[in-house]
Amino acid sequence: MADGNVRPESMERITTEALAQAFIDEQVQSIRDQVKDSKVLLALSGGVDSSVVAALLIKAIGQNLVCVHVNHGLLRKGEPEMVCKVFRDEMKANLIYVDAVDRFLGLLEGVTDPEQKRHIIGEEFIKVFAEEASKLQGIRYLGQGTIYPDILESEQGIKAHHNVGGLPPELNFELVEPVKLLYKDEVRVVGKALGLPDGMVFRQPFPGPGLGVRCPGAITRDRLEAVRESDAILREEFEKAGLAGKVWQYFTVVPDFKSTGIKDGKRAFEWLCIVRAINTIDVVECTVEPIEYDLMCRITDRITHEVPGINRVLYDYTPKPTGTVEYE
Ligand code: XMP
Repeated sequence: MADGNVRPESMERITTEALAQAFIDEQVQSIRDQVKDSKVLLALSGGVDSSVVAALLIKAIGQNLVCVHVNHGLLRKGEPEMVCKVFRDEMKANLIYVDAVDRFLGLLEGVTDPEQKRHIIGEEFIKVFAEEASKLQGIRYLGQGTIYPDILESEQGIKAHHNVGGLPPELNFELVEPVKLLYKDEVRVVGKALGLPDGMVFRQPFPGPGLGVRCPGAITRDRLEAVRESDAILREEFEKAGLAGKVWQYFTVVPDFKSTGIKDGKRAFEWLCIVRAINTIDVVECTVEPIEYDLMCRITDRITHEVPGINRVLYDYTPKPTGTVEYE
């Protein structure tokens, strides 16, 4: 392992605001020393790691950071808006917002194989990002939200560390990875100290292919909208019930399957919505959150009445294994 990629034993675990402030001051200086007057490009997804890196870089180099937020149409409700509000409006970042919704949904039309979907989304993301990068002049560095578990897992051959590592080599960037020696809980403490909103700092994990893997079968705009709206209701109800931040991951899935129901006294042949809420330590094994009956009834009532095209809600009691967290 390269020296700079080893966490020194003497490095104290960042658990307090004071330790986070000391880390921030040190990184701001080190970023300035590394990049000087050059520009840094960053793919900003709105996830905690890239958001913390963005906030650190804004503090260190201001307008010399160029953030690119790609909306592939598979983000959760309100997510692109939150990224623009926090980084462009409040932190005054140099942010390029790329609306690539039609492009991604067009390529995904009729694609049913889960791995092919993932592949298309991943490849296209790199293409869009590389296109934006090639339009800009004088970019020498690429910011990355690599964290310590990525380095360890990559060293141990568990998974290739990827972030946006699949960029074409001709772009020829040097990396800026200010949180690469931190664990996830430390990144969150630093994020809070940098003033990022709780919704970003304590955001539950969200897969790269986004809602695309929660819309099993060929993605259509109306079913994707049903996933997005039902997910927003679930998140709202979990927040009201004090479960947000306590349950590890929770979301809805709307498979390409319809059943007969009744709405307004008439036959309604509509989709069903599956609610999934799991807890885990390492994501290798997961248990199911025992959602209280009244809460589940409220969620069911809201989803079936507020989301067009859904007439039933099911709760998934399957742990991992035998299920996986996601459906695809
Ligand atoms: P599974 O479904 O494999 O999910 O039990 C384990 C964790 O990984 C997330 N996940 C992904 N994250 N790209 C990602 O960045 C993906 O393709 C992907 N697939 C699953 C999932 O949300 C869960 O947290």
